[in-house]
Amino acid sequence: MQALNLLLQLIVSLSVVREAFAATTNLDNQSDLYNRVSWAGNSRSSLASGDIVNLASGTYTAGETHAGDTVYWISNNFEHTIKCENDYLSCILDGSGSHRIMMASEITAGTLNLRSLVFRQGSADMGAGLQAKSGAQVSLTMCKFEQCSASADGGGLWVGDSGTAVTTYGVSYASNSAVSGADIHQTDGSTLTISSLCEVGGTAATQGSALVVGGGASGDFSYACPCTTANDANANCAAITDASIVTAVGLWFSDQAAAIAMYGHIRDW
Ligand SMILES: *[C@@H]1O[C@H](CO)[C@@H](O)[C@H](O)[C@H]1NC(C)=O
Repeated sequence: MQALNLLLQLIVSLSVVREAFAATTNLDNQSDLYNRVSWAGNSRSSLASGDIVNLASGTYTAGETHAGDTVYWISNNFEHTIKCENDYLSCILDGSGSHRIMMASEITAGTLNLRSLVFRQGSADMGAGLQAKSGAQVSLTMCKFEQCSASADGGGLWVGDSGTAVTTYGVSYASNSAVSGADIHQTDGSTLTISSLCEVGGTAATQGSALVVGGGASGDFSYACPCTTANDANANCAAITDASIVTAVGLWFSDQAAAIAMYGHIRDW
């Protein structure tokens, strides 16, 4: 096993080198996150196109650092990655039951990538966790929407307007509410692609009260949640054994998100 451990360490180092080309900004508090990332913040220009905003684990609570009803307004071709420092859903964006958490609009030159973020206790008319509109291109990987409430459509996620395109991979939903689409509401003209949808309404993901799509939605709508660790108790997670390690490493290189969804993060193998 020692040779295997050395091999894995090498692979982890190579992955780190590969990610190092985009500039990374590390943030650990709500004030900094709001000011550096939101369109309404005061120093967003310090970020360059394609940069990675890396959040430390913790809870980022809506508060006095922002006016209006939306905490983070990501707009005007902000094609960045906003991610948690790990893939274990330990970075929580909390709307305190009084704010929409994130609005994404007019991101057309690239894609806004959101990874391992928890959208908790958002409150708004449409899209209380995240509202994607006006042609925004957004990709969500292993995020979670919980306890978000919309007075109209899309408790967790609202996707609408011509040209807006949202893809989700291994995103889960719990205890969200709305008049239409407790977890997701998608309307005509936009595109929603779902891969490995988790825990919609606590059951297998089929269109119904939790998921309301008005057209332009596709995906495998299957019930599969990302594995947070190797040998996770989740029935969808594969175990790392002497027999599966080679397949797992191969998958890590060809499709890292799929490898995490199946085996957990490589550092835990
Ligand atoms: C937030 O983090 C920045 C960068 O580390 C620091 O300068 C600032 O004082 C922090 N603000 C608060 C309110 O903790």
